[in-house]
Amino acid sequence: MNSPILELIYKAENTHNLNKDEIVCILANDEINEKLFNAADRVREKYVGNEVHLRGLIEFSNFCTQNCFYCGLRRDNKNIQRYKLEPEIIINFARKAASYGYKTFVMQSGEGNFYKLEEMLYIISKIKKLNVAITLSIGEKTEEEYKAYKEAGADRFLLRIETTDKELYKKLHPEMSHENRINCLKTIKKLGYETGTGCLIGLPDQTLESLADDILFFKEIGADMIGVGPFIPNEEAPLSDEKTGSFELALKVMAITRLLLPDINIPATTAMETLNAEGRVIALKSGANVVMPNVTEGEYRALYKLYPGKICINDTPVHCKSCITGKIEALGRTISKDYGFRNRKQIK
Ligand code: SAM
Ligand code: SF4
Ligand code: FES
Repeated sequence: MNSPILELIYKAENTHNLNKDEIVCILANDEINEKLFNAADRVREKYVGNEVHLRGLIEFSNFCTQNCFYCGLRRDNKNIQRYKLEPEIIINFARKAASYGYKTFVMQSGEGNFYKLEEMLYIISKIKKLNVAITLSIGEKTEEEYKAYKEAGADRFLLRIETTDKELYKKLHPEMSHENRINCLKTIKKLGYETGTGCLIGLPDQTLESLADDILFFKEIGADMIGVGPFIPNEEAPLSDEKTGSFELALKVMAITRLLLPDINIPATTAMETLNAEGRVIALKSGANVVMPNVTEGEYRALYKLYPGKICINDTPVHCKSCITGKIEALGRTISKDYGFRNRKQIK
């Protein structure tokens, strides 16, 4: 053992526990990042194996009533062509993608009641009939709504906390409540969804201490899935002139998350690939075991513009599936053929 940081990585790999100061120490030191990534890769292999789960992402509407300071879909962005796909189109995207072998879909949109509850339930129940698992990523809802989606067939819900730093959260979402976001996550968990959360990396004024809190929050809330992505400034959002988040730091937060929550599902995020052409492959070698290829068709890919430089905007679902399959197989890993639920393991 030749460095205190290496000792901390060793401790995390073997006990799956670190305190806040220890996490900050690893985040602050970049000398042995490779050791951290390799440790996360070993823990990934030991607990979730070599299969990679593909979740087909359907970006079904870019209307949003929220106004998050980083996001291109925010309500006050007038320089965006809004769309809202008809239920039959959404179901058809899912049907086609299921025929290419997808066993899970992530239905994502801006927040708000742009679809009536009955419409959402209809879409969910129709897609469920394709014999797939369904993840929703549609923001903050009431308990009754979350319950109704679950009963219609939704299995998982993704709601990033974005940051656990309450002051920073308030600055970036002046009209939203951090407390409500946490309560939504608790409700989602209580209702029996597989619960996904995560954070943005490199927000202005975000500290390493707050990133350590984010990781500890993931553990505390009992997350089943964690998505971590670098913040990428959007020219049409208030944070347009801020610095882009660091790919390396996002990778480190992801890797530490794998060490502390060894058996959860962790995607190699699209935002990582936006900043680094091999971002998803690097993430898959540093703790990730999930990829979410886009199965939305046509112009909607480009219109769902959270940030500039989004990958795959001119590609088709068939092309993306074969592209990502090739990259995964080149790593010596295989594509999972099941629904990709969290397989809880005894942590030792
Ligand atoms: N509206 C839902 C919500 O906010 O939970 C789901 C869709 S939202 C577009 C999905 C995620 O996109 C957010 O949780 C946020 O972390 C991420 N995102 C938004 N703007 C971003 C940006 N400029 N850079 C990186 N990620 C961004
Ligand atoms: Fe809307 Fe989600 Fe973007 Fe916030 S992050 S503006 S809620 S789409
Ligand atoms: Fe879309 Fe590679 S995953 S082109």
